Amino acid sequence: MADNERISTSLNLPVDTRIWPLKRYTDMHRFSIEDPEHFWSEEARKLDWYETWDKVLDWEPPYARWFVGGKLNASYQCVDRHVKTWRKSKVAIYWEGETGETRVLSYSTLYRDVNRFASILEKLGVKKGDKIALYMPMVPELPIFMLAACRIGAVHTVIFSGFSAQAIADRVNDTKAKIIITADGGYRRGKTIKLKEITDEAVQDCPSIERIIVVKRTGEDIPWSEGKDVWLSDLLTDAAKYVEPEPMESTHPLYILYTSGTTGKPKGIVHGTGGYLVYNHSAYKWVFDIREDSVFWCTADVGWVTGHSNIVYAPLSHGAAIVLYEGAPDYPEIDRWWDIIDKYGVTVLYTSPTAIRMFMRSGEKWLEKYDLSTLELLGSVGEPINPEAWEWYYRYIGKERCPIVDTWWQTETGGIMISPTPGIEEIPLKPGSATLPLPGVDAVIVDNDGNEIPPGETGLLIIKKPWPGIMMDIYGDSDRYRETYWSKFPGSYYAGDFAMRDKDGYFWMLGRADEVLKIAGHRIGTAEVESAVISHPSVTEVAVASKPDEIKGDALVLFVTLRENEKPSDELKKEINKHLRENIGPIATADEIYFVDSMPKTRSGKIMRRVLKAVASGQDIGDLTTLEDEGSVEEAKRAYAELLKTKK
Ligand code: WT7
Repeated sequence: MADNERISTSLNLPVDTRIWPLKRYTDMHRFSIEDPEHFWSEEARKLDWYETWDKVLDWEPPYARWFVGGKLNASYQCVDRHVKTWRKSKVAIYWEGETGETRVLSYSTLYRDVNRFASILEKLGVKKGDKIALYMPMVPELPIFMLAACRIGAVHTVIFSGFSAQAIADRVNDTKAKIIITADGGYRRGKTIKLKEITDEAVQDCPSIERIIVVKRTGEDIPWSEGKDVWLSDLLTDAAKYVEPEPMESTHPLYILYTSGTTGKPKGIVHGTGGYLVYNHSAYKWVFDIREDSVFWCTADVGWVTGHSNIVYAPLSHGAAIVLYEGAPDYPEIDRWWDIIDKYGVTVLYTSPTAIRMFMRSGEKWLEKYDLSTLELLGSVGEPINPEAWEWYYRYIGKERCPIVDTWWQTETGGIMISPTPGIEEIPLKPGSATLPLPGVDAVIVDNDGNEIPPGETGLLIIKKPWPGIMMDIYGDSDRYRETYWSKFPGSYYAGDFAMRDKDGYFWMLGRADEVLKIAGHRIGTAEVESAVISHPSVTEVAVASKPDEIKGDALVLFVTLRENEKPSDELKKEINKHLRENIGPIATADEIYFVDSMPKTRSGKIMRRVLKAVASGQDIGDLTTLEDEGSVEEAKRAYAELLKTKK
């Protein structure tokens, strides 16, 4: 109880030091694990179905198929449902452009736009099961196109607008998307990003793309290819007002979203329709305690899973009012977010530890001008939140009134898995802990052999039962799906995260256990960065590591060996970073590049990552104990000394 006592005295948290029994939560969780089919069928009835399911769960490991035989439509859940009620005149989206303009969309205008956009797609020949790609800034047209796609049964793949042409081409070619939708440009920190130009460059290598739909945002001059490119506004002139939503099989893919893994090639995570929607609809209510008068702001980009689930599908399926902000948090100044909260009366703010640490560093003075008293609940996601950042968030943003929900989940899990659930019952909080698993989530911590370990010990997180939000597959690569998530602990889902459970049963999520990094909450594979760097003509070998960063959590560090006649220089470091930006995008910028004579390797030729990590982060090799088994301690020490000697 020591942690609790500390918090309750230092912060006046509403902490009950007798954590258990948490009556409502415990009963609900127990029931959900003992009889998942009964539990989830009751949750599923909260959505509208054209046909109810014959079978709640068809579990043939590693494939879970939820609500088999059921039919529903995601856009119907998000718009049609609401326009049949008083919510037709409720605000759906408060949109704030970076440059200061605003657009407010009611549910009825959103409904109308979703229908018109669906009609456009239909007229361009998009059919059920076709893939369409979206490479767009954070404008209302992005969620509208997502909903329009699923209205007609098309599968969208959203590509984060910070990705490079190469990254777009890889994703489009993997899905064979027929259409890509982009904008002329997007605003970021007062500059414009030339989205159309980047798209053009990408689609040169994408034979599947038939048309490029362009949304006007910046109004700048753009290259134009007659016949292929078409303005959204031109298409809208003869769009239909209503398009019948396609009743979709519950197990039909809703979308594909790419995320980084441990190889060079990103994984196309396929999410289904029924399970994904049911899970997110329920999780959203449990975690954010959402009410009719809530104003919910998730600051993520729609291009990540957080945006898919917590800007689009979960909030809109509840008929919630959301804020969608286009730009950078520090534009024109670092108080932009507080201004937005004040302006729209935001009640729930859901953001990342990186953002919180950034605000913390710039100081509380930026908060003074603003009224944040509408806030009721704060959320954190994407990376572990350090207790200092948690306390700052609690004290200065929530004014010691708002609980913080630290939500652990992944692109693959579809929705939030471990988090406080104030929508069920107030759970005493501990800064830095994601607390407890949601109903339906059978989370345990095991050692390398799959044995459950005692409280206080660090191990690996696994989920022992399928839950409705779970991914359906990796697009086009079922072997990888099986191998990555289900082979290490057969029958259980392996998340790839270190975790610890304390004696109160609380989960502490401790970062990735595989070769995936989290830089400012963005997920990036070491192998992905390595394969980009190795394509640079001066490089013969590269290995990627990370070091702790005060704001970003982790920062990217490269170890590079150069070709024989190449000389190490700052110029070359800059060039390598430029190369990374062109191949992946700005999120892959290295903070540190070291030129070394050779890589630390085991006798069998495997790179000793803990050696790299120790050198990158300035730690002693002895401080790093990991569960990974890469080389003997002696080998590691030798390699460590060698690397320190030669790095430039
Ligand atoms: C990885 C998943 C879906 C949320 C956005 C990120 C890390 C996520 C937390 C948290 C500690 C967290 C994990 C996870 N992570 N949330 N609350 N505490 N770590 O989705 O890009 O698929 O990344 O993010 O390491 O495996 P993602």
